[in-house]
Amino acid sequence: VDFPAVGVVGGGQLARMMAPAAIGLGVRLRVLAREATDSAAQVVPDVEVGDERDLDALRRFAKGCDVLTFDHEHVPTEHLRLLQAEGVVVRPGPDALVHAQDKSVMRARLTQLAVPCPRWAVVSGIDEIRGFGDDVGWPIVLKTPRGGYDGKGVRLVESAEDAASWLESLGPGASLLAEERVRFDRELAVLVARSPHGQAAVYPVVETVQVDGICREVLAPAAISEEHAVSAQSIALRIAEGLGVTGVFAVEMFDTAGGVVVNELAMRPHNSGHWTIEGARTSQFEQHLRAVLDLPLGETSMTAPHVAMSNVLGGEIADMYDGYLHCMAHDPGVHLHMYGKVVRPGRKVGHVTTVGEDAGDVRARARHAAAFLRGDSDGTAE
Ligand SMILES: Nc1ncnc2c1ncn2[C@@H]1O[C@H](COP(=O)(O)OP(=O)(O)OP(=O)(O)O)[C@@H](O)[C@H]1O
Ligand SMILES: [Mg+2]
Repeated sequence: VDFPAVGVVGGGQLARMMAPAAIGLGVRLRVLAREATDSAAQVVPDVEVGDERDLDALRRFAKGCDVLTFDHEHVPTEHLRLLQAEGVVVRPGPDALVHAQDKSVMRARLTQLAVPCPRWAVVSGIDEIRGFGDDVGWPIVLKTPRGGYDGKGVRLVESAEDAASWLESLGPGASLLAEERVRFDRELAVLVARSPHGQAAVYPVVETVQVDGICREVLAPAAISEEHAVSAQSIALRIAEGLGVTGVFAVEMFDTAGGVVVNELAMRPHNSGHWTIEGARTSQFEQHLRAVLDLPLGETSMTAPHVAMSNVLGGEIADMYDGYLHCMAHDPGVHLHMYGKVVRPGRKVGHVTTVGEDAGDVRARARHAAAFLRGDSDGTAE
């Protein structure tokens, strides 16, 4: 009864998946959700419905929580600073969180920390875009600094003209983050947990496979050299320390011939860590709760030599229950996770995980299950 209460701002699938971890630990989980029908609001009894951009709603919610944490990063830092001043414990704190909210701020800070990044510049007009592209070579990548997800807000542009209409649609005075286009062999993610005490734990480096800007698959461990893996992990730990992150923290990276390069940061449990529910000794959701409560962290080693996670994206079929039955019957080793979300084409509505001895086998089985749920009836179309 005296165990602490963790308040999660946001009612998405990440908050939802913290619930079983909280039950196991015996801590109370509270959720601030926009709608009573949100993914986490369906399964967590202690829900407040409110908008996290409304300071009063946030303040009311925080009253019943020993620590405030997040399901997503889109919470105004000025609200969080006020709450902190009123004595609310916010983890990660606003000074760290801003680096996951604003990609331009993130690039500037990582450059200060001497973390390898693509060449970058903040640009605010067509001439600056042209200048940057001529300098680093075309094509370049342009990003809206704030509010992007699943590749929305990211464009590969071949020329300044190519960027013109987009820039115009953003309105006068808009600035963009321009990046050199990195030629990578694969995309990686490193998950770290860090507690207010400064204890840190790092998970094995994973490969993330993106299709049309959306994460499709995660493969653990990534098939990379020991040298690149160690370097990726130490970069992630260095950033967590440098930014004073508390909680679970994910660093997306590019693996290149010349070494690893950082793409972006997330300060919460992350899609690249869903595999840890069955695939690691401590899931990222339990680890996040431990970290924000300043408890000792759990073991991060894998439960099997190989783990694969496939996201279940919405397809044309709104009712996935038929495919769901098939998946269970076809392969009793597949772990299915559904988020209680309405199916819309391309929307992440669940994920599946397989663990085993063989990398190719676990990947094929996870893919098959995810494709089948989506409605690709032979389970092979990707
Ligand atoms: N500088 C770059 N060079 C090459 N490819 C890039 C670069 N930046 C981004 N990409 C590609 O675009 C994808 C999306 O970029 P980014 O992760 O910045 O956007 P996002 O919308 O915030 O993503 P998320 O879905 O992770 O929130 C990356 O996973 C990568 O495939
Ligand atoms: Mg990304």
